[in-house]
Amino acid sequence: MSVQPEPEVSASESWDQRYREGGDGWELGQPAPPLATFLRHDHRAPAPAGPVLVPGCGRGHEAALLAELGFAVVGLDFSGEALREARRLHGPDRPGLRWLQADLFDRTALEAAGLGPGSLAGVLEHTCFCAIDPQLRKAYAATVAQLLEPGGWLLGLFWCHSRPGGPPWGSDPQEISALWRQAGLMAELWEPASGSIAKRSDEWLGLWRQPAC
Ligand SMILES: C[S@@+](CC[C@H](N)C(=O)[O-])C[C@H]1O[C@@H](n2cnc3c(N)ncnc32)[C@H](O)[C@@H]1O
Repeated sequence: MSVQPEPEVSASESWDQRYREGGDGWELGQPAPPLATFLRHDHRAPAPAGPVLVPGCGRGHEAALLAELGFAVVGLDFSGEALREARRLHGPDRPGLRWLQADLFDRTALEAAGLGPGSLAGVLEHTCFCAIDPQLRKAYAATVAQLLEPGGWLLGLFWCHSRPGGPPWGSDPQEISALWRQAGLMAELWEPASGSIAKRSDEWLGLWRQPAC
C-alpha cells in the first residue's frame, strides 16, 4: 500500500485556519492599549504624513485606529481570512485605509502594490514580529528598513516573553534593540510598555527612525 504524503500547508493557509477555527488567542478586539495611548496622547507620537504600513494586521484594529487619527494606512496580511474579518469590522478600502493581501517578504508583490523602497513614512508593528519564524527576524528588519523613507518611523509593541516555542515566539529587549540598530534605525524610545493587558505584562514599546539621509 502506498502512503500518500500529507499535502503541504502554506504559512498563510495555516493562519487562515487559525482564524476559521477560532485559534486566535492573540485577538484583543481593540488596538493594543499601550499603542492606542501612545498614538493618542504622547507628544513623541508621529504625526500623520505619508503612507503607513501595518504588517500582519490581522483583524485590523491598529490600522483602523491609525486611519481614524488621520494617517493614510495600508493594512497588510497574507491571510485572506484575516482581511475578510478586517473588512467586516472596519469597512472596505476607502481613502486613508487600504487592505492588502500579500506576504511581507514578497518584494515583487509589495512593489506591485506601490510599496517600494523608501515609500513609507511609517510602520506600526504589533504581534506580526512574534508570529514569524525567528530565523526570519533579520529579513523582517531589513524589509521594514528598506520600505521606510529617510526620517521614516517604526512604532512597535514587542512581546518580550521567554517561554519556549511559538508562535508567539519570545524575544528579549536587548535582542530587539540590537536588531533595529543593525538594520540602521535609531532608537527614540525603548521601554517597558504601560497599560498592557494582564497576560501581556512583558511587552516593550519602541519608536525608531530611519536616519534622515
Ligand atoms: C498573531 S497574528 C496578529 C494579528 C494582529 N497584528 C493583531 O495583533 O491582532 C499575526 C498575523 O500576521 C500575519 N502574518 C504572519 N506572517 C506574515 C507574513 N509573512 N506576511 C503577511 N502577514 C503575515 C498572520 O496572517 C496573522 O494575521
